[in-house]
Amino acid sequence: MSSPKRIGILTSGGDCPGLNAVIRAVVKCASRRGWQVLGIPYGTDGMMRVAEGDYNPEDLVIPEHGYDIPGMLQGIDVLQFLSGSILGSINKGDSRNPEVLAKILKGYEMLGLDALIAIGGDGSLDIIYEISLKGGWNLIGIPKTIDNDVPFTERSIGFDTAVQTVNSALYDLTFTAASHDRVMVVEVMGRDAGHLALHGGIAGGADVILIPELVPALNDTIIDQVCHKLAELRHRGRKFALVVVAEGVRGEDGHRMKAIAEYMAKEIASRSHILCASGDADYCDMDAVETRATVLGHIQRSGTPTASDRLLAAAFGRKATDLIADGRYGRLVVWEAGRVRSKDLGEAIAIVRDCHDRNVCPGPVETDSTMVKVARSLGTYVGDPATLPSLTSTMT
Ligand code: F6P
Repeated sequence: MSSPKRIGILTSGGDCPGLNAVIRAVVKCASRRGWQVLGIPYGTDGMMRVAEGDYNPEDLVIPEHGYDIPGMLQGIDVLQFLSGSILGSINKGDSRNPEVLAKILKGYEMLGLDALIAIGGDGSLDIIYEISLKGGWNLIGIPKTIDNDVPFTERSIGFDTAVQTVNSALYDLTFTAASHDRVMVVEVMGRDAGHLALHGGIAGGADVILIPELVPALNDTIIDQVCHKLAELRHRGRKFALVVVAEGVRGEDGHRMKAIAEYMAKEIASRSHILCASGDADYCDMDAVETRATVLGHIQRSGTPTASDRLLAAAFGRKATDLIADGRYGRLVVWEAGRVRSKDLGEAIAIVRDCHDRNVCPGPVETDSTMVKVARSLGTYVGDPATLPSLTSTMT
């Protein structure tokens, strides 16, 4: 049994479902070891506010049952069900400013912590890691993000729930699309990564899934091929279609596009018209196609965490406390090949920095990954002309 410890926990960067489930798991595991857990509000901002006297460190202690409200909720342990973060989160900060940094370091010292667990994504873990080196903190990172793009881990907290959200949105759109013979173009989050669009799209039965790793630029050729896929479906008697586009897919000029779903919806209608007018009769069925755009937006960051995310949260929370008990700091908790492990946080951050310098995603979809192959095998168009059957062979 290790000596009793006082540990801190914070959430940083964009929120996602499952953060509270991690906090709950850490508090439960730590309490069983006789440790104290301090919940730091709004990431490093909370430390500044401790330094400024706005928070008394002792008021930040999260008792094991502090989140049960006897009477009101009959003691129901709600944390595992709630999305968002009970601690609040920030995705901006000014820790490069020496005065701000000094306050953060002072606040941390005043908290009197033996170790800190930071639940963050690539950007926020990078910032906290940098500060931790300056302050000599004993840091453990837990990856969270619906983008699922943190290096070394196959799964991040929040991803599975977001996949479920995309999946159920596609399900809901199917019936209105089918009733009106419409093409629904659905924009999915993920920043520069296509994991969410790919997984949600496959689960939800999308006919087209465009992700940045496979479609570097949304040019006329890609739109023509999307139209080809949609024409093929029409020839086979299916008049509606679901098109998923990841927000990270760039325009022809290589820049991020605003309202990419809206753009695609218009382009599909106009390109199919051009293809038909240029004498390619195969596309004339598509000529008057109705398209509609849906942007799923921040709904993907919310929702009750799925069982899978709660399990991951429990396993990650436990691993983080184990690492602290063993005095193994500077580690990133990861999911790898069906197991929870830990990796060197510094190595993960080096990858993140290198990728950010090169303006590429630190944890992209591998282009030969199982799920890409699955999509292709199902006949989903993912930017690969080889998967498009000839239109004449599908004519009825
Ligand atoms: O990184 C998570 C994420 O939801 C991305 O998928 C998205 O691009 C971004 O954050 C949105 O950020 P914000 O909430 O600041 O608009």
